[in-house]
Amino acid sequence: MPSVPNSDELIFFVNGRKVIEKNADPEVRLLFYLRKCLRLTGTKYGCGGGGCGACTVMVSRYNPKTKKIHHYPATACLVPICSLHGAAVTTVEGIGSIQTRIHPVQERLAKCHGTQCGFCSPGMVMSIYTLLRNHPEPTPEQITEAIGGNLCRCTGYRPIVESGKTFCAESTVCQMKGSGKCCMDQEERSSVNRWEKMCTKLYNEDEFQPLDPSQEPIFPPELIRMAEDPNKKRLTFQGKKMTWITPVTLNDLLELKVNFPKAPLVMGNTTLGPNFTFRDEFHPVLISPLGLPELHFEKTTDDGVTIGAGYSLAQLNDALHFIVSDQPKEKTKTFRALLKHLRTLAGAQIRNLATLGGHVVSRPDFSDLNPILAAGNAIINLTFKEGERQIPLNGPFLERAPEADLKSEEIVSSVYIPYSTQWHFVSGLRLAQRQENAFAIVNAGMSVKFEDGTNTIKDLQMFYGSVGPTVVSASRTCRQLIGRQWDDQMLSDACRLVLEEIYIPPTAEGGMVEYRRALIISLLFKFYLKVRRGLNKMDPQKFPDIPEKFMSALNDFPIETPQGLQMFQCVDPYQPPQDPVGHPVMHQSAIKHTTGEAVYCDDIPPVDQELFLAVVTSSRAHAKIISIDASEALAFPGVVDVITAEDVPGDNNYKGEVFYAQNEVICVGQIVCTVAAHTYAQAREAAKRVKIAYEDIEPRIITIEQALEHNSFLSVEKKIEQGDVDHAFKYVDQIIEGEVHVEGQEHFYMETQTILAIPKEEDKEMVLHLGTQFPTHVQEYTAAALNIPRNRVACHMRRAGGAFGGKVTKPALLGAISAVAANKTGHPIRFVLERGDDMLITAGRHPLLGKYKVGFMNNGVIKAADVEYYVNGGCTPDESEMVVEFIVLKSENAYHIPNFRCRGRPCKTNLPSNTAFRGFGFPQSTVVVETYITAVASQCNLLPEEVKEINMYKRINKTAYKQTFNPEPLRRCWKECLEKSSFYARKAAAEEFNKKNYWKKRGLAVIPMKYTIGIPQAYYNQAAALVHIYLDGSVLVTHGGCELGQGLHTKMIQVASRELNIPQSYIHLSETSTVTVPNAVFTAGSMGTDINGKAVQNACQILMARLQPIIRKNPKGKWEDWVAKAFEESISLSTTGYFKGYQTYMDWEKEEGNPYPYFVYGAACSEVEVDCLTGAHKLLRTDIFMDAAFSINPALDIGQIEGAFIQGMGLYTIEELKYSPEGVLYSRSPDDYKIPTVTEIPEEFYVTLVRSRNPIAIYSSKGLGEAGMFLGTSVFFAIYDAVSAARRERGLTKTFTFNSPATPELIRMTCVDQFTDMIPRDDPSTFTPWSIHVS
Ligand SMILES: Cc1cc2nc3c(=O)[nH]c(=O)nc-3n(C[C@H](O)[C@H](O)[C@H](O)COP(=O)(O)OP(=O)(O)OC[C@H]3O[C@@H](n4cnc5c(N)ncnc54)[C@H](O)[C@@H]3O)c2cc1C
Ligand code: FES
Ligand code: FES
Repeated sequence: MPSVPNSDELIFFVNGRKVIEKNADPEVRLLFYLRKCLRLTGTKYGCGGGGCGACTVMVSRYNPKTKKIHHYPATACLVPICSLHGAAVTTVEGIGSIQTRIHPVQERLAKCHGTQCGFCSPGMVMSIYTLLRNHPEPTPEQITEAIGGNLCRCTGYRPIVESGKTFCAESTVCQMKGSGKCCMDQEERSSVNRWEKMCTKLYNEDEFQPLDPSQEPIFPPELIRMAEDPNKKRLTFQGKKMTWITPVTLNDLLELKVNFPKAPLVMGNTTLGPNFTFRDEFHPVLISPLGLPELHFEKTTDDGVTIGAGYSLAQLNDALHFIVSDQPKEKTKTFRALLKHLRTLAGAQIRNLATLGGHVVSRPDFSDLNPILAAGNAIINLTFKEGERQIPLNGPFLERAPEADLKSEEIVSSVYIPYSTQWHFVSGLRLAQRQENAFAIVNAGMSVKFEDGTNTIKDLQMFYGSVGPTVVSASRTCRQLIGRQWDDQMLSDACRLVLEEIYIPPTAEGGMVEYRRALIISLLFKFYLKVRRGLNKMDPQKFPDIPEKFMSALNDFPIETPQGLQMFQCVDPYQPPQDPVGHPVMHQSAIKHTTGEAVYCDDIPPVDQELFLAVVTSSRAHAKIISIDASEALAFPGVVDVITAEDVPGDNNYKGEVFYAQNEVICVGQIVCTVAAHTYAQAREAAKRVKIAYEDIEPRIITIEQALEHNSFLSVEKKIEQGDVDHAFKYVDQIIEGEVHVEGQEHFYMETQTILAIPKEEDKEMVLHLGTQFPTHVQEYTAAALNIPRNRVACHMRRAGGAFGGKVTKPALLGAISAVAANKTGHPIRFVLERGDDMLITAGRHPLLGKYKVGFMNNGVIKAADVEYYVNGGCTPDESEMVVEFIVLKSENAYHIPNFRCRGRPCKTNLPSNTAFRGFGFPQSTVVVETYITAVASQCNLLPEEVKEINMYKRINKTAYKQTFNPEPLRRCWKECLEKSSFYARKAAAEEFNKKNYWKKRGLAVIPMKYTIGIPQAYYNQAAALVHIYLDGSVLVTHGGCELGQGLHTKMIQVASRELNIPQSYIHLSETSTVTVPNAVFTAGSMGTDINGKAVQNACQILMARLQPIIRKNPKGKWEDWVAKAFEESISLSTTGYFKGYQTYMDWEKEEGNPYPYFVYGAACSEVEVDCLTGAHKLLRTDIFMDAAFSINPALDIGQIEGAFIQGMGLYTIEELKYSPEGVLYSRSPDDYKIPTVTEIPEEFYVTLVRSRNPIAIYSSKGLGEAGMFLGTSVFFAIYDAVSAARRERGLTKTFTFNSPATPELIRMTCVDQFTDMIPRDDPSTFTPWSIHVS
């Protein structure tokens, strides 16, 4: 290999500041550089692979040819800094800040309540900002498209879209679809009495600053000069291990290809980048011809269009749009097929980075474009030093046949896409777990050419993606069909032949084998229909149209911009204007979130001598550790130490939780040791070099079924029984029995678990900064691990970038792990879990198996139910016992069943230990309840809603565990939901739709909910606060609750403001800490506001009582005067406040108690449409009615309800964890675990807060953090309803099993038809599948 010269200077701009890197390292990505080198921490790490959008920045480049500046969004985690020479980068800090001036995008996202935890917010801001730089008056569709690559786990996207829509030309924030009225005019909708008045205005648009594009920073003139420099020369950046070369001309590039034949071309780095990061790919030399003008062109000829390989997919999209609008329809069929897939391929950031050449050459098996390009007879043009040549894409190239591949010195210079012709049809078809930004489960490109004027096949091509290791051509099938007529017989033969030709083995990687087989022919059928319709349009006389009932099969679901309305109680007009309680006050940190100034744990500046920690985790589910050989890791440059169980000075096994594995491992993902090094890259590399020898131990238990076989449990059974169940079964008309499986869920908080552990030299103190829901627990475990008293451990928690239960117990384990490392090395330890490690190690929601036996009368009255629940708790106790208790107590839901027995038990398995997750078992178990209700309805020929109504609690009653309650708000939510959603009318309309459509079906479901907040153990309901008044009148409030995005601190400020009667601006709330409020309980169970609010209120009332004599003496005085006077009179201006807690209890012996302080009620109605051929579904509309009693802050409460609902919808539909039979979690990134994106949320989304009374809680409010989660089942059961309609039409009238999640796979395979009947089935006893269900 020839030697490479020394490094050139890398020059680019960040936020208008010139950056000159003399030693640019090709391995360094922009995200790292911004955060660690420039200390711009607004840009966040969420996944490192381009899949979450948290790191979105704007990149701007000047094109000397067009003299235009091109702005585009990019995921900084994939952008190598060396690719930025001559570019300007704008980060969230660059567009506005609280110090200077906030940008309208930042302001509106905050004020529209589009930020909760705020971790996704800088990325959202930058996606919308970049769109506005290119389109100052965007359409609503452009807004939705712009944020399609940005994940948010908190908000449910509706307010984010709404903030974006405020920039649209037409007044789009008005959401009253079709009503002609504006939602903003809805205030005071009723004048019956002042408590009935409903408001809809969650923010005030009049406050928004206008967007003034002329105020945006200018593109640095120096970069224009650089771009126009005629004497540009080749650039070389020499890193420690890699060399980066940027050629300046095509010849230069070709020369380099000869000199460095093995060097890849780095274009968008969207394939190479993830390969470097996650698959350990390495290349010593990289060639980056990204800006070469010879690769950036489009040329139109009479036959087609040639597009330069350097075009990004976004540029390709623009070019194709232009051609489609410019050329006759018949010529652009391939282009239109490509455009359809380009809309959903990844997110906008990736489409702007990835290039056409990179896409074609990297040939991923899931490629969305290659099958269409191949079917459209596209050709790639290759250039090399000696000449040029072409490769047809419909040849063996896509299947990676070595003889058809590029030679090492060749590059792709362009792709030629011919026009289609009159008797020629081209289509792209695809199905993914999620509509947008998800790799296809199966996709296809198909084309057929007919003899002119006939339906005789002259040429047929079919290419499939994701059915094998490469894109696969069904060439044999196609050949055999030449000369055939395009008719049903041909279709039937084609399906048979293609299934013979493309065989997916039962053990195939990726699983879903039968589903993928079904998709192969279902997509073919769709193509068949499209072509028949096309032929009919060309000659209706000759070619009959497809049946009317089949029409809706032709199109995929459109991507609509969501809209909706939120209604809540107006504030009493007599309430003093300064009192913020009841107002939709913006999240206290919202502006800091959107400007990137909010500090999360890893944003804390480096601490002197800090080290980074990387984990080594077990690769076996159950094994003896024979040896740990860390010698190679220890010898790795930069490594300071390797930490194992032996280094734990205190308890390594504390309350059943093991910190570092010792002697044996009990799950894949258990931490065996950690490596501390000067950089994270060193720690990570060294961690790979630790060698652990294992010896498997039997049994290895992965599933609930296996646990039951081995009698493997984490605790004893919990049971509740009322009436005489066995006796009642003897007198019922009918009995049904069944089983329901509900799979688990990953929290997918956007900020992965992060800890900064700082050892203090004095007195063995340990200070931890982390995002947790339970600092006391972290303190306890750390003290135990270090064998020091708890008063030496200080935990500081400012905010968490989402938690959802995942940061209740796990931070204690990880805190102890880091503290042990800090203790051993004597250095501060920074421990940021990579997304993949986080998903693997910290586990999530408990998978559940429910078995039921239900006895009922023919009129739908349920007389008896006997239900058993088992959850997969994983390998250690964690909170599994409590989860089961909650399940047993709560799962009766809203129904009164006089003879009711419910039992539950957590199973011990060799999976990572499952933990708390929003709703704590309730969302899983009630699927079982709703399932048997639905089954009863089916047996009685009633609607499920009728059976629900019949069996619902109607008046003051006792639960099965004998707690008295009044279900009046439940009835009200239910009634309003049925009425306001026009359920019965829409149900009838859906039935009408279903009669007319064979392949698409609509379904509706209404779900009632009776939920409880809090914890049966009374001591978990206590809280304390500390309030200081300073002499300038400012107030510092501290309490034991944690700010996780839910807006707890905001509500606490509202409480303090009311109690102290001072403006909110006087009050500050900084962090939660074990130093200020000791022994605080976890912030979970929807009770953060309840208990901490009471404590803050108590403290404020104590202070006000002290000030009262002074106020009485000087009633006209100001707050500051009273405070000063109090000081003069030696009155303490500081106090703690305390709330003893709700006096809850549960007696499991007697099976009765008062375990929960109160109930939250609600109801939701959802309507979906399913595509029976693919299993895709579209959520058309959701109406939620939630009993909020009196909402302290309707914006925050609605945010919680919407966010929880979307998270629940994810749980019940698209979120699917995949485990190997050996217990390895496969789904460890946003690429293979799909949480909802903006395209999944309801097209119409209505939320109403229903008023009730709840005198027990602060200001008569209710805790709403979790309740919305379960209402996501309305989507699940609406899907069930739609699938039932499909099955009924196909003659299948019996009740069927429908487990959660209702993935496209489940939906498709349950909509049985001639295609599912055709596919080969495998005998499950003859093979080991790639993945298994663990519920
Ligand atoms: C988060 C994410 C989501 C995605 N989602 C989808 C999806 O839904 N559907 C889909 O189809 N794809 C998807 N992709 C894949 C994406 O389309 C490809 O990664 C991309 O097109 C590759 O282009 P690139 O310019 O980034 O290639 P690079 O990563 O820069 O290069 C890839 C390879 O191509 C070679 N190469 C590049 N250009 C040339 C050239 N001109 N001549 C010769 N060799 C060349 C390089 O040597 C290298 O080996 C996704 C990727 C990511 C990161
Ligand atoms: S961190 Fe870059 S996309 Fe997730
Ligand atoms: S606000 Fe979007 S992830 Fe938390």
